[in-house]
Amino acid sequence: MKLSIASVLLSLVLVSVSGRPLDSRQTRNNSNRKQMGNASGVAAGAAYFITNEPDGNFIVAADIGNDGKLTLRRAIGAGGLGEHGITDPNGPDPLFTQGAIKASSAANVLATVNPGSNTLSLFTIDPNDPTNLQLIGAPVGSGGEFPVSLAFNKDGSQLCALNGGAINGVNCFAVDKQKGLVSLANTNRALNLNQTTPATGPAGSVSHIVFSEDGQTLVASVKGVPPTPGFLAAWAVQQDGSLSDDFQKIDPADGGLLPFSMTVIPGKNAILATDAGLGFDIFDFGGNASSAVKIDGQSATCWSSFSKKTGNFYLTDIGTSIVTEVNVDDNLTGTIVKQYAQGQGTGTIDNDIVTVGNNDFMYVLAANATTIDVLALNAAGKAQTIQKLGVAATAQKANLKCFQRARHDYFRETVDQRPFHFPHKWRFLSSYPCVALVNVKFYVFLSWLPSRFYISVRRLLVLRS
Ligand SMILES: *[C@@H]1O[C@H](CO)[C@@H](O)[C@H](O)[C@H]1NC(C)=O
Ligand SMILES: *[C@@H]1O[C@H](CO)[C@@H](O)[C@H](O)[C@H]1NC(C)=O
Ligand SMILES: *[C@@H]1O[C@H](CO)[C@@H](O)[C@H](O)[C@H]1NC(C)=O
Ligand SMILES: *[C@@H]1O[C@H](CO)[C@@H](O)[C@H](O)[C@H]1NC(C)=O
Ligand SMILES: *[C@@H]1O[C@H](CO)[C@@H](O)[C@H](O)[C@H]1NC(C)=O
Ligand SMILES: *[C@@H]1O[C@H](CO)[C@@H](O)[C@H](O)[C@H]1NC(C)=O
Repeated sequence: MKLSIASVLLSLVLVSVSGRPLDSRQTRNNSNRKQMGNASGVAAGAAYFITNEPDGNFIVAADIGNDGKLTLRRAIGAGGLGEHGITDPNGPDPLFTQGAIKASSAANVLATVNPGSNTLSLFTIDPNDPTNLQLIGAPVGSGGEFPVSLAFNKDGSQLCALNGGAINGVNCFAVDKQKGLVSLANTNRALNLNQTTPATGPAGSVSHIVFSEDGQTLVASVKGVPPTPGFLAAWAVQQDGSLSDDFQKIDPADGGLLPFSMTVIPGKNAILATDAGLGFDIFDFGGNASSAVKIDGQSATCWSSFSKKTGNFYLTDIGTSIVTEVNVDDNLTGTIVKQYAQGQGTGTIDNDIVTVGNNDFMYVLAANATTIDVLALNAAGKAQTIQKLGVAATAQKANLKCFQRARHDYFRETVDQRPFHFPHKWRFLSSYPCVALVNVKFYVFLSWLPSRFYISVRRLLVLRS
């Protein structure tokens, strides 16, 4: 296994460092690859996130140790530009979405959006050193504007993108390990939302794209413009990967307002969607058990993932910085199991869950603390925080833009005029010239080598320049 290190960078590695042979050549060229840390020597997988910087999008990759803890390793140029959606006032969630960067363990590939270039980039993952990514081919047009969310099919042979700008909708690609992404015929399908490039939101913006569990349906979520609720758009996926001409519009149950992330409910023809205006929505495609469930005291519940070990869902709220564990029973009744405060004001956003051996670990971006929080999901109702990985100092040392922690970078507005609570409450002080919204999305690859998986995370940070 060849691992690289930049001699100039002494990054903050929070877990034990191995004595493996290191190769410095790769990182001397700083143009599009930056070294962030030494190999931990115990990597069971990797976590990835994008910086989404308007002057150059980077993927940041960290090792996941056998103990679930993270070690920052590399930053790799994504081959395009980031971009921030329009909010008034500006908020900490740049794309208003989940799934901006995704990986497939079946195919050993990773894809990211470049929202400011209207492109997508595809990388191979080195199975022996999963933070080592290599661009395949050139970035390709996303088939619309402001691409913000991605979904691989089960075997990693097809990638579908959700565009959220003035030209919005979906478009799918064949994954070619030599040529890169090749646009698939009859997959460019419009949503016809009245949107702008970049998108204006979060109300009225697209949220997430996923395949159904059986792979036969492609689903996109769209937030409402209160009081009008949002919806899911579902296209039938044909054998050849093409999509039905039109989508089926699926409304949330009464009370649903702003469907955000979608997490498939295993074994059911159903999806749990976070709802920024309420808590979460259950969409029952096969029956009539859809519901909209309130999380008391919630502010903006937007991101979610599922743990195989506990059988429960884990939802994050950017406003309260609380992780909410939810159980969905056989009748698709959703109930809150437990809540875990991550520290007031830390701004928890994207999250994902991986299985390492017999353990599940959850990774949460705490945007305002510039950390990734790692929780061990020991059993249902028994999550425990085991690491808070600081990113800012390491990134700064690696000369990676916009990872510096800005102090007092937000202030709370005294009056929230919106009919729902959202990160609008947080505003960046205009004296900071660079407002960096970093998208991190964790990926989990379980079908590959049992001990390996990838994670991607999405987040927002602010640079004080
Ligand atoms: C990485 O390893 C080298 C060589 O062992 C060491 O000098 C350096 O301090 C290490 N860097 C970090 C960030 O631990
Ligand atoms: C870095 O790599 C890029 C792309 O391979 C190349 O164009 C550039 O000249 C290299 N820069 C240095 C300083 O080696
Ligand atoms: C689209 O939205 C803009 C801004 O809200 C509005 O002025 C315009 O009338 C809308 N267009 C349509 C066709 O609804
Ligand atoms: C839901 O579906 C079940 C079984 O199909 C049926 O028995 C029940 O009456 C339905 N309930 C409602 C409220 O429609
Ligand atoms: C599901 O609903 C059925 C019929 O109403 C009931 O008998 C069963 O106990 C319910 N299961 C759970 C887990 O609540
Ligand atoms: C972010 O952190 C700063 C400094 O700790 C704090 O003053 C501010 O209230 C926090 N903002 C949010 C949105 O949590």
